Amino acid sequence: MNILILGAGGREHALAWAVLQNPKCDRLVVAPGNAGIDRIAECADLDILDGDAVVSFADAESIDFVIVGPEAPLAAGVVDRLETAGISTFGPTAAAAQLEASKAFTKEVCDAAGAPTAAWARFTQAAPARDYIRARGAPIVVKADGLAAGKGVIVATDEDQALAAIDDMFGGEFGDAGTEVVIEEFMEGEEASFFVLCDGEVALPIGTAQDHKRVGEGDTGPNTGGMGAYSPAPVLEGDVADRALREIVEPTLAEMARRGTPYRGVLYAGLMIRDGAPRLVEYNVRFGDPEAQVLMMRLGGQALDLMLAAAEGRLKDMRVNWADDHAMTVVMAARGYPGAHDKGSVIGGLDTVAEDSAHMVFHASTTERDGQIVANGGRVLNVTARGASLAEARDRAYAMVDAIDWPEGFCRRDIGWRAL
Ligand code: AMP
Ligand code: GLY
Repeated sequence: MNILILGAGGREHALAWAVLQNPKCDRLVVAPGNAGIDRIAECADLDILDGDAVVSFADAESIDFVIVGPEAPLAAGVVDRLETAGISTFGPTAAAAQLEASKAFTKEVCDAAGAPTAAWARFTQAAPARDYIRARGAPIVVKADGLAAGKGVIVATDEDQALAAIDDMFGGEFGDAGTEVVIEEFMEGEEASFFVLCDGEVALPIGTAQDHKRVGEGDTGPNTGGMGAYSPAPVLEGDVADRALREIVEPTLAEMARRGTPYRGVLYAGLMIRDGAPRLVEYNVRFGDPEAQVLMMRLGGQALDLMLAAAEGRLKDMRVNWADDHAMTVVMAARGYPGAHDKGSVIGGLDTVAEDSAHMVFHASTTERDGQIVANGGRVLNVTARGASLAEARDRAYAMVDAIDWPEGFCRRDIGWRAL
């Protein structure tokens, strides 16, 4: 079959790498892709937020199956357009993608589903929001309702910080995303990510992971899109993941179906775990980035069969073949990230890294210039390895990092510290 993946990051490189291992894949196109993806698949220049353009491209190229990577095309309704055109697609409709695109929507769904999450209230005006903060006190969490590229959440340790966040949000700092604000109880515990494939009715867990959001070692410094991840996450072992499935994910799916907007695709539940009890922090309607890199390395070619089954409503017949393994990805970023950083520095040594089913350098943001790979963004490479233990995966990943010659880049040296 001919497959099209939409996206340009390390997540999409990992999806492409896994899909290519499945003999069902005859041809793979990634749009727009990047220099790393270009080494293993065809890349096509396409505006992936333009549903008409995606449908015309898929028709012209006889695409049988589309996998949507990032949230923006999902929220823009690209899946709705593809499905109307009769093209099988992995990902939720715009109505179902509200689970990521609107925090207030998600909280309402959770309340209706009885899924445990933080106490909350929603506001469209600053004065009552300020009163609520003063009444509740700190710590407290202030969130812009809409998509804000991961920056619309302020975990306020004191009241002044929370009040300042209200001023920023209603002052337009987050654009339309901040015209409505959700204020939440601060939840204590350990965070982990739980990934579940959904076909509208059935939920099939495909793995757990932990990300590292802060830029600095020891979880210090500003937040980023994620500096590294590993799978599985020990904090979700035992019956914790099972509880998250039964108490949070399955009731959410039932509520979405009841509303006439069944959820299909991957549901990424961000969980807070305390004393073995999971509560929902947030949903994402796509694979995590860089969490997808470790999940794909563990799943390999079966990822395509699972995504096809999710799109076609066949998940109840599917099983995941779990290997008793661990994977880790280390993000190499341009110096200065998440602040100002340069583009265009040359990355050497990539050809000295042997890539196989346990070692891969996924490209997050690279381009090719005069035959050389150059950095083209903040998070640039995802150096990913698998092993029989997390320590083995870590040693392999950092050995690859050390073989890469990129003086303008940096990484955290402590990925996995919580589990190791
Ligand atoms: P998000 O940008 O939605 O991924 O949220 C960013 C981070 O804020 C989450 O990963 C949590 O670490 C933190 N966070 C969000 N909501 C809460 C909450 N209610 N209690 C504690 N931490 C939270
Ligand atoms: N790594 C966090 C995310 O993809 O949202």
